[in-house]
Amino acid sequence: MTGSKRVFIKSYGCQMNVYDAERMGEALAAEGYQATDTMEDADLILLNTCHIREKAAEKVYSELGRIRQLKDARAGAGSSLSVGVAGCVAQAEGEEIVRRAPTVDFVVGPQAYHRLPDLVRRAAVRPGAVDIDFPTEDKFDALPSRTKPGVISRGPTAFLTVQEGCDKFCAFCVVPYTRGAEVSRPVEAIVREARELAAAGVREVTLLGQNVNAYHGEGPDGRTWDLARLLYRLAEIEGLARLRYTTSHPLDMTDSLIDAHRDLDALMPYLHLPVQAGSDRILAAMNRRHEADAYVRLIERIRAARPDIALSGDFIVGFPGESDADFEDTMRLVETVGYASAYSFKYSTRPGTPAAGRGDQVPEAVKSERLQRLQALLNTQADAFNRSMVGRRFDVLLERAGRKPGQLTGRSPYLQPVHVDAAAGAIGDLVEVAVTEVAGHSLFAEPIGKREPADRRLAAGGVA
Ligand code: 5AD
Ligand code: SF4
Repeated sequence: MTGSKRVFIKSYGCQMNVYDAERMGEALAAEGYQATDTMEDADLILLNTCHIREKAAEKVYSELGRIRQLKDARAGAGSSLSVGVAGCVAQAEGEEIVRRAPTVDFVVGPQAYHRLPDLVRRAAVRPGAVDIDFPTEDKFDALPSRTKPGVISRGPTAFLTVQEGCDKFCAFCVVPYTRGAEVSRPVEAIVREARELAAAGVREVTLLGQNVNAYHGEGPDGRTWDLARLLYRLAEIEGLARLRYTTSHPLDMTDSLIDAHRDLDALMPYLHLPVQAGSDRILAAMNRRHEADAYVRLIERIRAARPDIALSGDFIVGFPGESDADFEDTMRLVETVGYASAYSFKYSTRPGTPAAGRGDQVPEAVKSERLQRLQALLNTQADAFNRSMVGRRFDVLLERAGRKPGQLTGRSPYLQPVHVDAAAGAIGDLVEVAVTEVAGHSLFAEPIGKREPADRRLAAGGVA
């Protein structure tokens, strides 16, 4: 026994929650916590929740029911277990969580993570603490630097939140309520964090924001920088070979960002650009603020700038009032665009959002049938895209151990998982490969050469 405390963090939902879990883990590591991946071993259990769809809150409550049994057993044995709820359900439900689940010691909203260690200490004395404020101070400034290892181990890829919140208010979406108004971090804070990550061996950074391409942060020159300008700046950082960003709104896809896709080798040819629906009537009802044709023309311009770009999107079927003809418009748009990958969902009522109160909800069976048809089409497109890779050559960033000994798994520029024969020491290398085979969503490839050996990586502490 080392005497140190152990934390188990379970994250649901989007990549921003993955990033937040890492930052919370770093804050707890600074307080002497170590990670455990078994709940039974933990002194502290943290559920980092998601509220975007379905019965997310109900899932959290049933998980909390299981945790209560663990806590009761622990109390019977004379030891203690602390339980916290973080993330968007925490933000949306607040006090209600401790009322419904008294097993919860504290509730922390996404804007208050920098106060987590303090909250854990307070809850130890007085359980039931809730912190879901949107504080005026910058939580990122108050979190520990990225140079110190956290409780979650990091590979050669990392997420970096540059923007949070959303001002778009799509009629179906809870994000503007749970994550609040759009806020962009200053350029210098982002550059510092990216350098810290590079110094810790990170080769690929994915910039995150609920509306990342609406980024408008304060630049070192005192002016407002957009995402394109930030990307050009980050591409200069030594050691960072690859940049990505997610997730974007079509209205914020500016000419300068499209130019960045043409100009920057480090900016990977993959773009997640949700359209949600293909019918102008439904797009208007969703408050998406553009028509289907404008999206198709935008895609044409992006492809003109970067012909090999892989497109991904999000779709919702069964938004209130969606007719068969509206749905056929979505199918037609998918046929026209051609996606490399995509996510599609049945519309799910989110309390408090404008669409929730509508009387013309679509029956569940209709939603299921539409989803099946849409997913069949999207799968066909994804398979065709993957098959078109056979014989292609590109760089793979080797990220982790593969399925078999002697094999590592990484990602193609187009974000596909690629299995390559390579020694374990090659994790973090960019290797040029030739694709030999496709299996499901993965590619198999053989190495042709090593583009950037591991020794080119920055030594710890080095910055650009
Ligand atoms: N119902 C179904 N899907 C939703 N999304 C957001 N809100 C809802 C909802 N109420 C989907 C959108 C969004 C993705 C993150 O989740 O497609 O782009
Ligand atoms: Fe939600 Fe995205 Fe619309 Fe913002 S732009 S309200 S995050 S779907």
